[in-house]
Amino acid sequence: MIQGLSGKRIVVGVGGGIAAFKAVEVVRHLQRAQAEVRVVMTPSATRFVGPTTLSGLTGRAAVTDLWDPRYPGEVHVELSAWAQGCIVAPATQNTLARLKIGMADDALLATLACMACPTVLAPAMHERMWNGPANQRNVAQLREDGYTFAGPVTGPLASGHTGMGRMQEPEEIVAILGTLLDDAPSGLHQDLTGRRVLISAGPTQEDLDPVRYITNRSSGRMGFALARAARDRGAEVVVVAGATEVSPPAGVRVVKVRSARDMQAAIDDALDGLDALVMTAAVADYRPAERAEHKLKKQTDEAPITIELVKNPDILAELGRRRATTRPFLVGFAMETRDIVKYARRKLREKRVDLIVANEASVAFGGDDNEATLVTPEGDTTLPRMSKLALAHRIWDHVSSAL
Ligand code: CTP
Repeated sequence: MIQGLSGKRIVVGVGGGIAAFKAVEVVRHLQRAQAEVRVVMTPSATRFVGPTTLSGLTGRAAVTDLWDPRYPGEVHVELSAWAQGCIVAPATQNTLARLKIGMADDALLATLACMACPTVLAPAMHERMWNGPANQRNVAQLREDGYTFAGPVTGPLASGHTGMGRMQEPEEIVAILGTLLDDAPSGLHQDLTGRRVLISAGPTQEDLDPVRYITNRSSGRMGFALARAARDRGAEVVVVAGATEVSPPAGVRVVKVRSARDMQAAIDDALDGLDALVMTAAVADYRPAERAEHKLKKQTDEAPITIELVKNPDILAELGRRRATTRPFLVGFAMETRDIVKYARRKLREKRVDLIVANEASVAFGGDDNEATLVTPEGDTTLPRMSKLALAHRIWDHVSSAL
């Protein structure tokens, strides 16, 4: 049986595409996992699958119209308050576009506009629609807004072609929501309420001259996933961010910094009353000994040039040296390319921190997933590959029980 769904209240949203008939299977898999299900459909979805079928399966009238006299009051508000998880299957290009800009012009979109629980979007459309620039922009924004995507996958499409855009298998979609709900007790319990946490994210940039700098690869995604998860669990969240590729979640305080020393100063400023500090930032270990006032010019000869680097402060290690009672709970990340746990264990000891999240560079970089081992003085926990948001919740589970 799919885990994480037993006894949970799930809203299934159905968009208007050929794959809408598979919403029936989504509902069935949810019910097999012992979830309670209610359905909301766009008007065009009702052309592809009968609301009567979905009402019959769920024992509750499928909501298709905000003006239906059977639903006095605000059915979209009531449905979203009832839901502990949500799946939109199929999510058409039109549904994704409207969701991205916050439209609420039918029962499904109005419900999604109020939804505060983990939501899985399962797109289905022709490959050219999926790859279109507008759709890709919308998908990128929706991911940043915290939606989880299930698929699409490559396979036969309604048009008869084979390509990317086929809806993920219903069982898989349901399993993905199960993992999210298993990993995200948030929304249900607010175990970080009253806690102040700081997350550093992204790379630092160490200037060589006004146009050049030394940096590390880091998108900021893991840090922002931690910020979102902490926010959803009730914490007051401060993010100290270098130059990240993605935007921070809403509802958190963001302090932008450039160099390692700027980052250290910003963290020091926020230390008062801080319960936990999670350093996901890729802090440059070294910086150029000097920052030239003017742009350095290329030499006319072929001789190599040398840049002198000096060591940056180790922000985490300096905090680790403080007495445990005068510092926040400290979490470091160890990004390695080999001997991951061995190096992580050494960092745990040498930096005197409470938890090291050890991950491998090739998995962690850039994408939405990560695979990590939590290394603590008490022992290691190796986690399977999961979304960065799910991993963030595992990290907060650990921090929350230690606080
Ligand atoms: N870190 C830090 N200050 C630094 C360097 C790293 O606070 N100057 C933090 C990182 O944010 C991360 C942890 O320390 O949480 C481990 O960083 P990493 O670069 O992997 O460790 P280093 O000590 O720099 O070791 P190495 O580069 O040799 O692997």
